[in-house]
Amino acid sequence: MVDYKKIGLVNTREMFKKAVDGGYAIPAFNFNNMEQMQAIIQAAVETKSPVILQVSKGARDYANPTLLRYMAEGAVEYAKELGCPNPQIVLHLDHGDSFETCKSCIDMGFSSVMYDGSALPYEENIRISRQVVEYAHKYDVTVECELGVLAGVEDEVSSEVSHYTKPEEVIDFATRTGCDSLAISIGTSHGAYKFKPEQCTVDPQTGRLVPPPLAFDVLEAVAKKLPGFPIVLHGSSSVPQEEVDIINANGGALKAAVGIPEEQLRKAAKSAVCKINIDSDSRLAMTAAIRKHLAEHPDHFDPRQYLKPARESMKKMYIHKIVNVLGSNDKL
Ligand code: G3H
Ligand code: 13P
Ligand code: ZN
Repeated sequence: MVDYKKIGLVNTREMFKKAVDGGYAIPAFNFNNMEQMQAIIQAAVETKSPVILQVSKGARDYANPTLLRYMAEGAVEYAKELGCPNPQIVLHLDHGDSFETCKSCIDMGFSSVMYDGSALPYEENIRISRQVVEYAHKYDVTVECELGVLAGVEDEVSSEVSHYTKPEEVIDFATRTGCDSLAISIGTSHGAYKFKPEQCTVDPQTGRLVPPPLAFDVLEAVAKKLPGFPIVLHGSSSVPQEEVDIINANGGALKAAVGIPEEQLRKAAKSAVCKINIDSDSRLAMTAAIRKHLAEHPDHFDPRQYLKPARESMKKMYIHKIVNVLGSNDKL
């Protein structure tokens, strides 16, 4: 049993309280490799932002759970080395699919876990969420649960259509599970193709697809039922068109990729939403930089040559999200 506090990590409790009171959101960035982790920590240190390092089941399968957990421990020391004496870093399991996966992460030093039972029948979701919360709270690990279904792929969970969270269920769900935060569905979804072209309108000036707005009425109704309770938004990448264009100009084929407009995320961050999950934008920034670099330097074959600009590009994107979208800068 690893005590996350001994390795300098924190849980989400204090962080979320401050974010809710201060009208901003904590960035939750997924990481799968060293370059993403370095870029996230550099961005958090430079902007003086708390940060959540998220690990998905896919990341654990790709990189190895033990390596990722030691990278997070290293991240704390790295942040100190970069000049941040008291970094606020959470190591969080993203979309835990079972009690066993959550327990395994808690036992190896995660300070926060998500149990995602959103695809299960309501009572089953409550039962397993409660089981995870009971185990996690023994070790002061915080737990995120989910109610409502996001369209797209959520690791093991996939759905063609989204089902918005029902505000009339959230008090019962939060009370009976004892969860510390609640992920809700208000129209976001995972990946770079969040909306079908037929769901969008076309901007006559740019010819680009404009997605339908998020269901802020659902968010407001949830916040009214659970005043001050931390709400989480998944699937919150904006899928910047510039990155998609760079990828496509350099051999890629990402057609009709559409994300969540940043103004809407800014609005959400000022409300009850205190954690915003971003993964796809990092993938796009990394891929765009690598494709561009290799197209311009066909003779390069040392991974450091193309991973360095990829890391820089991700760092720039993370800083932009922290400062201009989530507002979590200058909070340490
Ligand atoms: O919620 C999904 C995250 O973007 C993680 O994606 O399962 O491909 O690692 P992944
Ligand atoms: P994006 O695919 O929009 O980046 O969402 C990531 C996410 O929700 C991770 O849990
Ligand atoms: Zn997610």
